[in-house]
Amino acid sequence: MNLSVTIGTLQLKNPITVASGTAGYGEELSKFVDIGALGAIFTKGLSLKPRAGNPGPRIAETPSGMLNSIGLENVGIETFLLHKLPFLLQSQATVIPNIAGHSVEENVELAKILSHTDGIAAVELNVSCPNVKEGGIAFGQDITVFSKLLEKVRAVTRGVLIVKLSPNVTDITQFAKAAKEAGANAVSAVNTFLGMKIDIKTGKPYFANKVAGLSGPAIKPIALRMVYQIVEKVDIPVIGIGGIFTVDDALEFLMAGATAIQIGTATLINPDTSAVLLGNLQDYMKKNSINDINDLIGIAHR
Ligand code: SIN
Repeated sequence: MNLSVTIGTLQLKNPITVASGTAGYGEELSKFVDIGALGAIFTKGLSLKPRAGNPGPRIAETPSGMLNSIGLENVGIETFLLHKLPFLLQSQATVIPNIAGHSVEENVELAKILSHTDGIAAVELNVSCPNVKEGGIAFGQDITVFSKLLEKVRAVTRGVLIVKLSPNVTDITQFAKAAKEAGANAVSAVNTFLGMKIDIKTGKPYFANKVAGLSGPAIKPIALRMVYQIVEKVDIPVIGIGGIFTVDDALEFLMAGATAIQIGTATLINPDTSAVLLGNLQDYMKKNSINDINDLIGIAHR
């Protein structure tokens, strides 16, 4: 059975990956999952200097989902390269750092550093974090700003460049098209939806940053629709994200045309979800005599 999929020049062992921010830098996850057997690990969004993130509370459960307001807490690129990457590489993981600089220059610098680092499979540029005052979603909602950033990051990125899109736009296909035009090799769709919670004891916003990002099964049908629409309109590999908890969810995204998928919120509930889904995907293929995963990808469009 062939489970490998291709994104630009990058071949993944299989389409099951873990989403940025839900598995840190792989170490904790490795206690539950053979991270070397997954398609890839997308790291927590990295900045040049370590970031402390937002003051708490940072998470709230919602019906069929959760809100987060982490604020891109991360160890910074230097610590990542010195102390986190070696473990990932020893574990044979396919490593895709997510970069989340607060300015164009910071993103360019991060992409440059990673382009000169051995063992990096690709870079995922985060233009969609809703929880920070500078950068993040501000790069992902204005098409001119978005294109300019991408062109600059593309110019210094040697390998595969993936752009993580924001769903908080009127027409996501326009951003996927602009990503392709600027030279991105793939898009990840989608990051979290802007949401909010009010603390009824104080009558004030629950999160210090007021708004937060909604993820989990609640967003799955909307994320799936966006993936389908991008695949229909733009010829670029799409990595599907949004409330994938079961193999049926994964199959829906693949059939909608996602080349690979990222497991996010589900990992926070059951850390072994990615491994379970990989096993269940193989079982599904066996049962249905599917020898090549690529025969499933995009069948909803045929
Ligand atoms: C966060 O760190 O606030 C979440 C990251 C993201 O939404 O990209």
